[in-house]
Amino acid sequence: MKVIIGIAAGLGLASAAYAAQKLGEYQPERPPEVTYAKVCGYCHGKNVGPIILGRKLDTDMIKAVTRHGRNGMPAFRPTEVTNAELDALAVWISKGPARTEEHGK
Ligand code: HEC
Repeated sequence: MKVIIGIAAGLGLASAAYAAQKLGEYQPERPPEVTYAKVCGYCHGKNVGPIILGRKLDTDMIKAVTRHGRNGMPAFRPTEVTNAELDALAVWISKGPARTEEHGK
């Protein structure tokens, strides 16, 4: 009996974990400035990465560097920055003005 309860409890945990993972995959889309602040702004504009705002960088280049990384920059997977978020982010970075409070490397 204990074994059966143990297995049932185990299955319960597994499906709870699965449900949580499914929920984690569903992130309501973040606006680009929030993604930038939470993910990119950790390095960019803080002397770790180069300034990327206000340089009219090519959107395809921004997306490629974000997905594949480059030298000191890590790659970000679609579970971290969704495709829709990245599309919006690349345009926002490319078209957006520079920020005077930012410092580049
Ligand atoms: C852990 C720090 C870090 C984070 C977080 C980070 N980057 Fe970078 N990024 C770098 C570094 C360092 C470089 C310079 C890479 C090199 O030397 O080639 C870079 C380079 C870049 C470049 C190329 C700039 C150029 O002048 O050619 C782009 C575009 C870029 N990052 C976009 C992003 C975006 C978008 C995000 C957020 C999704 C992000 N980065 C998050 C560190 C980071």
